[in-house]
Amino acid sequence: MCGIIGYCGHRPAVPLVVEGLRRLEYRGYDSAGVSFVQAGQLSVIRAEGKLSALEQKLATMHVFSATSGMGHTRWATHGVPVERNAHPHRDHSGRLAIIHNGIIENYEALKAELTAKGCEFRSDTDSEVLVNLIAECLKATGGDVMQALSKALGRAEGAYAIVLMSVDHPGTLWATRVASPLVMGVGTGENFLGSDIPAFLPYTRDVVFLEDGELVRLTASSWEVFRADTLEPVAKTVSRINWDVQAAEKGGYKHFMLKEIFEQPKVIRDCLLGRIDPATSQVRLPELDALPVPERLHIVACGTSFHAGLWGLYLLEKYAKIPVQVEIASEFRYREPILDKSGVVLAISQSGETMDTMAGIKLAKSRGLPVIGLCNVVGSSIARESDYVLYSQAGPEISVASTKAMCSQLAALLLLTLYWGRRKGTMSEDSCAGLVSELQTLPKILEDALPSLRASALRLAKHFAETTSFLFLGRGPNFPLALEGALKLKEISYIHAEGYAAGEMKHGPIALIDPHFPTFAIALDDEFFPKVKSNLVEVQARAGEIVALTNEGLDLHVEHPWLLPRATGPLAAFLTLPALQLFAYEMADYLGKDVDQPRNLAKSVTVE
Ligand code: F6R
Repeated sequence: MCGIIGYCGHRPAVPLVVEGLRRLEYRGYDSAGVSFVQAGQLSVIRAEGKLSALEQKLATMHVFSATSGMGHTRWATHGVPVERNAHPHRDHSGRLAIIHNGIIENYEALKAELTAKGCEFRSDTDSEVLVNLIAECLKATGGDVMQALSKALGRAEGAYAIVLMSVDHPGTLWATRVASPLVMGVGTGENFLGSDIPAFLPYTRDVVFLEDGELVRLTASSWEVFRADTLEPVAKTVSRINWDVQAAEKGGYKHFMLKEIFEQPKVIRDCLLGRIDPATSQVRLPELDALPVPERLHIVACGTSFHAGLWGLYLLEKYAKIPVQVEIASEFRYREPILDKSGVVLAISQSGETMDTMAGIKLAKSRGLPVIGLCNVVGSSIARESDYVLYSQAGPEISVASTKAMCSQLAALLLLTLYWGRRKGTMSEDSCAGLVSELQTLPKILEDALPSLRASALRLAKHFAETTSFLFLGRGPNFPLALEGALKLKEISYIHAEGYAAGEMKHGPIALIDPHFPTFAIALDDEFFPKVKSNLVEVQARAGEIVALTNEGLDLHVEHPWLLPRATGPLAAFLTLPALQLFAYEMADYLGKDVDQPRNLAKSVTVE
């Protein structure tokens, strides 16, 4: 989510690092910082806000003699975006500095241990804990930074990409990663590190992709890769990439939308980070501990976020036994809703800036109801206006059509259900732990499935390229996904599509069915299958063509069965949603539409 760049070479490092950060700007910002060793001093310069704020600070300083350094742009996942939380962070002796992308899940325990040893902290971050832990390990390794880093990582749990520098070794950087991107650029007399290739693309196209658990030691003239745990050397190959800057920003994908769809396994992992007790597999949401479990919940949102809310209704009612109403924000704000004081409003918004959702929050607050904001953008207006905030932790979403943000909203809503279900006593510890551990296996299942889902989506897109209208059907929690499938198709391919609850079809839309009006159904192996199947038989009786997202072994005979891996109950959504998104994507791309910036749409809707 954050941008990272490291440099060891022969050029002035600070301007190069800042320029690299500028190329990572498309990822979003709330603060930025650099560090470098100059005249025997380890300097850290940071600023809140856009990169220009950091540049202004640096403009008044003499920073040109350092030839190695590192920089970071923060896109906060939690914790307020202020200068003291910006990276790099120094250890309390000031001899080490770290930049870190990710979350150290056990940082509280480590912080308590270090505090007991006299360590003082200046920020709220887990990253500052980590650099102090490395400093502590340095005492035991006789000043060997790499061994200290390895020892410290052995105690840190979570996901991270890290770059470390030491005042005692001004021309060296150490870096490592687990479940967070980090790539090395190999130049002549200079070497680079970056969270993404654009960070160093003007200087080299020779890259080394670092794998989880690998550690690199970098100088201007050398780079060596080791296993982070044993420090055994690892042989790596240098790959030459041919991407231009735009392709590099998209990670080699043709569009941001496709990149974001493929990021969803990571999005699920990131949403869980720090929120699952490793010992008990129970959900922790400390940001909501002070709020009593709602007696009634009003979910307020727009568009895709509204669909996520509707999906949440099925879960919250079934598992946490909380009565839920889901409201389109633009309707809610102008109704005269009956809002009892025992209720709570949950506002869902990726951008955190949607005007109608914001107005819904203001209405709820004026009636004395507490508001929880489920937002992706930290520090956004809705996050600031809400009494409690739960961040969906999806990272910056650049494509106008929302994809990975919805995945993160579903994951957060599932966590919220389990969290309230346990607090209310409607769910047992075992049933929660069961769903959590299955949720933890989903990213890998999805990762493996995505390439073939994409191939099927393309096949279908070619087949239906001339179709002008689609009906999307689903029942239960698959109904909101049917709505979302239809919305995605409309907004990026401009093909008309209707999402319907499968059981409602016979009350009207069935009149539309003919050989030219295909139905896209969600017919999975769940309690709704027999009913959905009989709805599809009604479609077939009218010569309607059917695509069905389904599971292997089900007794369903349709023209285009599209098989998904099996998942328990609500977890199937994390596989169904990417398939729907990929279908819309491949349709739009095949038809030559502007996928990332569809006509008439904006990423955040701050007008009525
Ligand atoms: C659809 C889409 C929109 C948004 C809606 C709400 O792909 O992006 O429907 O979901 O404008 O936006 P947020 O979630 O930012 O409040």
